[in-house]
Amino acid sequence: MGKNKLKKFAEVQRMTHVIEPEFDEVMNKDYRLKGNWNKEFGNDNPIVLELACGKGEYSVGMGKLFPEKNFVGIDIKGARMFTGAKEVEDASMTNVRFLRTKIDLINSFFAENEVDEIWILFADPQLGRPRKRLTSGMFLERYVRFLKPGGKLNLKSDSTDLYEFTKLESIPEYHQEQNNFEFDLQFDTDQLYEEGIKALDETMQAVLNIRTYYESIWLAQGKKIKYLSYNLIKK
Ligand SMILES: C[S@@+](CC[C@H](N)C(=O)[O-])C[C@H]1O[C@@H](n2cnc3c(N)ncnc32)[C@H](O)[C@@H]1O
Repeated sequence: MGKNKLKKFAEVQRMTHVIEPEFDEVMNKDYRLKGNWNKEFGNDNPIVLELACGKGEYSVGMGKLFPEKNFVGIDIKGARMFTGAKEVEDASMTNVRFLRTKIDLINSFFAENEVDEIWILFADPQLGRPRKRLTSGMFLERYVRFLKPGGKLNLKSDSTDLYEFTKLESIPEYHQEQNNFEFDLQFDTDQLYEEGIKALDETMQAVLNIRTYYESIWLAQGKKIKYLSYNLIKK
């Protein structure tokens, strides 16, 4: 591992707003913060997750826009997370945490109805491995266990495959299999910056104008950005 990466790992370890559970603290068991995130933040404010957060641009950006909400950025890569974690520290923000873990284990971390909103930004489209996509039926089944009724699921992506898979395959198939939950489509655009964003209010425009590291790469290549937003209905 490079010297720079090692330095970032060491820095992240001393940061109290970065949570790095040991494998045996979560494997087939509930982590100590499950059901206790509001205690961790010291308030009753809504909890918003950024899955596959990378450098955590949305956790930090939304954390600044919405001091009355709490944000948890989740990713397995600690060195990437360092960028967002350092910004949180430098700005003395108290409403952002980073959690270093595999999203596959997410049900060990969040209890029923504990989370208000999920953001998935530029996740790997996992071409050829649809089950691994963060909007596959297997992941949706995990999310409905902790997302509140009326909670939001947001996907922003450059990938036509991931966008169409989510909208036309995964969520409709999930509805067919599942009688208790429905993801109700609230917003859909395959050209966010050219068209879709104009229909959104100022606050949502500010949120969607936050650019992630990967988004900047795809925009520079001229890719069109897609955005889907759903409300979870629990029947
Ligand atoms: C393409 S990057 C996007 C990062 C960031 N959202 C952005 O837009 O710049 C995908 C990220 O997902 C993370 N990731 C992929 N699968 C994961 C999983 N199962 N659990 C945790 N992190 C995962 C990777 O570590 C990587 O940081």
